[in-house]
Amino acid sequence: MTNQEALKRYRERRAEMAGGPEKAKAQGAKGKLTARARIELLVDPGSFIEQQPYIAGRATDFGLDQKRFPGDGVVTGTGKVGGRQVFLFSQDFTVLGGSLGEMHAERIAEVQSLALKNGAPFIQINDSGGARIQEGTLSLNGYAKIFRANTLSSGVIPQFSVILGPCAGGAVYSPAITDFILMVDGVSNMYITGPDVIRAVTGEQISHEDLGGAQAHCERSGNAHFRFGGEAEALSFLRRLLSYLPSNNLEQPPLAAGADPADRETPELEELLPEDPKKPYDVRDFITALCDRDSFLEVQAGWAPNVVVGFARLAGRTVGLFANQPKSFAAALDINSSDKAARFLRFCDCFNVPILSLVDVPGFLPGVAQEHGGIIRHGAKVLYAIAEATVPKIALIIRKAYGGAFIAMSSKALGYDRVLALPTAEIAVMGAEGAANVIFRKDIAAAADPQGLRAEKIQQFSESFMNPFVAAGYGYVDDVIEPRFARIELIRSLEMNLRKREDRPAKKHGNIPL
Ligand code: HXC
Repeated sequence: MTNQEALKRYRERRAEMAGGPEKAKAQGAKGKLTARARIELLVDPGSFIEQQPYIAGRATDFGLDQKRFPGDGVVTGTGKVGGRQVFLFSQDFTVLGGSLGEMHAERIAEVQSLALKNGAPFIQINDSGGARIQEGTLSLNGYAKIFRANTLSSGVIPQFSVILGPCAGGAVYSPAITDFILMVDGVSNMYITGPDVIRAVTGEQISHEDLGGAQAHCERSGNAHFRFGGEAEALSFLRRLLSYLPSNNLEQPPLAAGADPADRETPELEELLPEDPKKPYDVRDFITALCDRDSFLEVQAGWAPNVVVGFARLAGRTVGLFANQPKSFAAALDINSSDKAARFLRFCDCFNVPILSLVDVPGFLPGVAQEHGGIIRHGAKVLYAIAEATVPKIALIIRKAYGGAFIAMSSKALGYDRVLALPTAEIAVMGAEGAANVIFRKDIAAAADPQGLRAEKIQQFSESFMNPFVAAGYGYVDDVIEPRFARIELIRSLEMNLRKREDRPAKKHGNIPL
């Protein structure tokens, strides 16, 4: 073969990659982009380098010897996002439904390994019919490799899953091990068993979308973190999310330029807090006022809304917000909000993101369903996550900080580095009504005017304890500050703790209550 012939053959091979124009058309007809188009939308123009494009399946059973495709149904490689290296794969549904066979898995494992060695974020774009049925245990072995690599990478490099097609069976567990899952309405599906199996086993009837679509996982199960109307929107959002995060656990998050002035005052906070303590407000308004303009990026906005978590910036530095939301369940912490907060807090600690908690919480949610659902175990996750975290931890108590929730959200003894309180803060074991009922129960029962005495005791308790000064007197609150200076004080608190170093006893790993 002449050199020219070799070159011609090479060019033909490159051109024939993927499942062909018909399959690509079918992909488009479902409103889905191709694997490569998705990569182009994600990475900086011209930065993608493909890895092992000629890998092909080796299995021969059930006619697979007649269906060999270069790349084996997945595109893998590296590119840059905002100038920073990332490694990725994008499954190609046009090839055998993006199903995962032995070599498809090998290709993925190769980029997982490169991402880990290079300390670069890993992004997986899932669009697959799951285990390639014809390859049997070869594909199960491949999944096992991927799960293991996801697990070993956890806490070392950030990992993201963008679900842009079906993701069924055990295949969902790779995304579930990664840090963040993005889903698109009408395109993404995740489930262990699909509607047909469910109908056969339990008799329940449900559509693919209702069972495992973006809404189901972003609002009901809490399995996914971000929901979008379209693929391009999801991929563009991922670029933004990456800008808040370091490439690996040994780096600091990038400093953003052009931030809000660090000395901006926040007089609007005085208006945001209603006079009536029972009246709800949206804690996002506090976040918006306190953090750099337009910097708040909420995580899991649609699930467990009684806590608000997400990334924002303070004077250009990434912080992880952990805020109570009085608009939902009076901000009480329940099972789901504890899980949501604990997982987010642990991510922040893995990747050197300081934690900022905004506190207005009456406690953990009472109720039989909560108790029997394991609120003890789930609530313990938040305590564990805060206590084990070594990143700077700052708390601002806005209003209520009662009981165990005070400890989880703002206790220096648990490990917060600086605790600030607004003059409206109420720090106590419980609210004044509950406290008066417990401490003075016998006196109230024996009184000639029980209601009058109860009101008097509530008033007495409120005046004595429902303020920040008792706690500040013990040193549990470092300072009581004016709302107008809250942003300035938070930035100063963050800056004074940036060089924080805290060791933990050597151990294999802790045993967080799961
Ligand atoms: C091999 C597969 C496949 C699979 C789809 N295809 N899934 N080939 N193994 N798992 C092929 C189809 O045969 C078809 O090939 C092409 O991909 C496109 O599939 P369609 O069915 O035409 O597409 P669509 O109508 O969009 O339906 C997509 C789908 C459906 C919902 C994903 O294909 C489906 O239900 N597939 C099976 C899903 C499944 O049961 N997977 C195993 C899960 S168990 P042709 O040549 O006709 O175009 C699992 C265990 C993992 O994954 C365990 C890990 C621990």
